[in-house]
Amino acid sequence: MTVTSGTSRADDRSATSELLVVDDLRTHFHIAAGAVKAVDGVSFTLKRGKTLGVVGESGSGKTVLSRSIMGLNIASNARSTGSVRYEGQELIGRTPKQMRQFWGAEMSMVFQDPMTSLNPVVKVGRQLTEHVRHHFNIGKAEARTAAIELLRSVRIPEPEKRFDNYPHEMSGGMRQRVCIAIALACSPKLLFADEPTTALDVTVQHQILNLLAQQQSERHMTMILVTHDLGVVATRADEIAVMYAGKIVEKAPTATLFSEMRHPYTQSLLWSIPKTNQPKHTRLSAIAGRPPDLINPPPGCSFAPRCPYAQASCIEEEPQLRTDGDTDHQFACHIPVGTPANSEAFERNMAAGLPQTLTAAGKMAAREDVVPDYAAIGAETNVDERAVAEGMSTTLRDHGNTGGG
Ligand SMILES: Nc1ncnc2c1ncn2[C@@H]1O[C@H](COP(=O)(O)OP(=O)(O)OP(=O)(O)O)[C@@H](O)[C@H]1O
Ligand code: SF4
Ligand SMILES: [Mg+2]
Repeated sequence: MTVTSGTSRADDRSATSELLVVDDLRTHFHIAAGAVKAVDGVSFTLKRGKTLGVVGESGSGKTVLSRSIMGLNIASNARSTGSVRYEGQELIGRTPKQMRQFWGAEMSMVFQDPMTSLNPVVKVGRQLTEHVRHHFNIGKAEARTAAIELLRSVRIPEPEKRFDNYPHEMSGGMRQRVCIAIALACSPKLLFADEPTTALDVTVQHQILNLLAQQQSERHMTMILVTHDLGVVATRADEIAVMYAGKIVEKAPTATLFSEMRHPYTQSLLWSIPKTNQPKHTRLSAIAGRPPDLINPPPGCSFAPRCPYAQASCIEEEPQLRTDGDTDHQFACHIPVGTPANSEAFERNMAAGLPQTLTAAGKMAAREDVVPDYAAIGAETNVDERAVAEGMSTTLRDHGNTGGG
C-alpha cells in the first residue's frame, strides 16, 4: 500500500517534464444577470516537482481556477472550456465520475478553512481512516495504522492520542495538519493548496507552509499554492502567476517577478504586503478601488479604473500577455512598470489629479525599500520545527508574533 510513501513517484518524474498544460481555460457561471467570467482564458504549463504560486485579490478567480483544473466545479450553472492536459490526458469535458480516478492518487487539494473541510462531529482518526479505506482496499486495523502514520508524517504530536480527538479539540494549525494528512493520503502527484493558511496566525502560517514544502520535497510533488498574499509565495514558489479578473496578468519566475515586475497590479500587490519592520497590528494597505464586475468588465484593460498609469490606449484595447524578450516573463500591460512611458504616464496622471496617482505616490515614497525588505523575510523566518512537533508555541524572530501549532 502507498498510503504515506511518496518515493515511488520519483520514477514518474523522468517520464516527461511537464505534468500539467492548461490552455485557454475559461469557467463561466451563468446567472440571471449574465455570465460571470470567473476564469477567462488562462494558460500555463507546470513542470514536475515545481511550485506555481497563484496570487490575486479576493474574487480574482484563484479558487475557481484550481477547482476547474481538478474538475470540481460541479455547479449546474458552471461551464468550463479550453484544455487541461494532465500527463497528456485531457480533463476538460470529463464527468465527476470520470474524474474520480484522478482525485486522491493523482491530484488533491488542501482547502482554505479546515473547519469547513473536516466534519465537526466525527473524530479526526475516523475521518482519515474512512478516506484511506475509500481509496485502498484495506481493513480497519490497517487503515488505523496508516492514519496514525499520516498524522505523524504531518508532525502531529502523539498521533495515537490525537486520533481520537474531534476537530474542535485541536488548534487551527493542528486541524490544518489533519487536512494536509487527508490530502496527502494517496500520495498525489499534484497538490493544490488553496489559501491553506489564511485562517492562521503568522507563526502557524509559516509552520504549515514549511510542512507543505517538506512534504512536497519528500514526496516529489508538484504544487499549486494559491494565496492573496505575494509575501506567502515570495520564498516558496518557483514561478508566480498574478491573477486579476479571471486572467493571468503577469507570470514569471519568482526572482524575476520581484526584481523586474512589469504589471501595475503586481506592483499594487507588492505595496500591500506588510514590511518586516512595521509596528505590529499596522493595517495592511488595500489596493485602491474595487475589482471589476466579472459580468460586464470595463472596456480595454480591466485594471484601468484603478491604475495610476492608465492612458486612453488602455481603455481602447485590451492588453494581451506578451514578453520583453525573456520568454519566461509574460505580462499584459500597454505601459509596463519600469519603462520611460510608464513614468511619463504617471506624471501626466499626477498633473491631471487622478486620485489613484496620489495613493501610488504615497506608497512609492513610503515603500521604496519593500523589495529588498521582503526578500529578507525567508531568511529571517526562524520557526523551530522541533518545537512544533512537541506542540509548543514558537517565535518568529524579529516579528514578535507567537502562536500554537
Ligand atoms: N457558483 C458560482 N456562481 C456564480 N459566481 C461564482 C460562483 N463561484 C464563484 N463565483 C464567482 O467567481 C469569482 C471568482 O471566485 P473565486 O472563488 O475563484 O475567487 P478567489 O480568487 O478564490 O477569491 P478568494 O481570495 O476570496 O478566495 C467571484 O466573483 C465569485 O463570486
Ligand atoms: S494596460 Fe494601462 S491600465 Fe492596464 S495595467 Fe497597463 S498601464 Fe494600467
Ligand atoms: Mg479562493
